Amino acid sequence: MQNLEKIKSAEKPHSQYLNATPVAEEFKVVTRKKWIARKCLSRRNRHKSESDYLNDCPDVDVDRFETRLKRLCSEMIKSDYFILAMEALQQQMDILNLQHPLERVVCLGLGPFTRTHQAMHQAAFVMSLQSHTNVKEVYYYDPVFRDTEKELIERFKGIVIPENSASKDEAKVVTLYYLPHCPYALMNNLLWSNWHREKLQNVLLICNSFEMLTLNQRVSRDDHINRITKHCLETQLEDDYEHQNVFNDLSLHIFPTVRLPLETDTKFWTRCPLLKVNEDEISEELNVVSLND
Ligand SMILES: C[S@@+](CC[C@H](N)C(=O)[O-])C[C@H]1O[C@@H](n2cnc3c(N)ncnc32)[C@H](O)[C@@H]1O
Repeated sequence: MQNLEKIKSAEKPHSQYLNATPVAEEFKVVTRKKWIARKCLSRRNRHKSESDYLNDCPDVDVDRFETRLKRLCSEMIKSDYFILAMEALQQQMDILNLQHPLERVVCLGLGPFTRTHQAMHQAAFVMSLQSHTNVKEVYYYDPVFRDTEKELIERFKGIVIPENSASKDEAKVVTLYYLPHCPYALMNNLLWSNWHREKLQNVLLICNSFEMLTLNQRVSRDDHINRITKHCLETQLEDDYEHQNVFNDLSLHIFPTVRLPLETDTKFWTRCPLLKVNEDEISEELNVVSLND
C-alpha cells in the first residue's frame, strides 16, 4: 500500500462524520461549557438537535452561494491538497493502464453543503475536479439535499441522481466514486455492484481508508471491504488542507485486475449480502448554530 506510513492514525479519529460544522461556524471556538453540555445530551437528543438544526437552517440565497462556491473552487484548484490529489489520481490511472479516460464521477454522501462547512469544501473539491478533468458526467446523491442544493449542483454542471440507490452503481465506464466519510455500507454496496474481476478495474474510489476501516473493526466480518482490502492498491490523500476535518483519512483505492484473485476462486467472487446504512454512522455531533455568511 502506497504512502500509508504517512497516516497518523493514532492522532485522528478515522471517521470524521463526528464533526460536521455549520458553514458560518468555521472559525468559532466551542467553549468547554458548551462542549460538556453537548456531550451530556443523550445520543437520541443529540441526533434530534442535529436534524433540527439541518431542518431549521434557513435556505441560502442560491445566487450568493454560487458566488461563494465559485470563489472557493478558484482557491481549491490552487491548493496543494487539490494538486496532489489530482497527481495521485493520474498516477493511479496510469497504473491501471485503462483503454479509456475517466468518463464519470459519482459523488455520494457529500452532505448538506450549504449548511456544513466540511460538505461545502468537499463540494468545491468535486466541482473543481470536474473542471480540471473535463469529465462531463458528474452525479450527486445525498438524501439530505434540499432544492437549493440540487439547483446549485445543476448550476455547476452536475447531475442530481433522483433516487436512493443505496450506493448500488455499476461502473460500465471508468468511474471515480467520491464518498467522503460515508457510512461503511455505501462503500460495501458499491463493491457489491461491481463484484467482478474485470468490472472492478473501472472503479476508482475515494473514501475513508479501507486499511484503517478494517484495522479498526472490533470483529472482522465477511463483507466486500474486508475481502478486497488486501488486494486493492490504496493511496492516502495526504491532508494538508488549510481547514481541518474536511479531507482527513481519505484514500484513493484502485483494483488492478492482476492483484485480484482468479475468477475460478468462487469463494471470493460469490457476493456477500448487501449492507444497510447504520444510522449512527451518518452524523453524531454537529456544532449547531445558524449559517448566515
Ligand atoms: C457522515 S455524513 C458525511 C457528510 C460529509 N461528506 C462530511 O464529510 O462531513 C454521511 C452522509 O451520507 C449520507 N447518506 C446516507 N445514506 C446515503 C445514501 N444511500 N446515498 C448517499 N448518501 C447517503 C448522509 O445523508 C450523510 O450526509
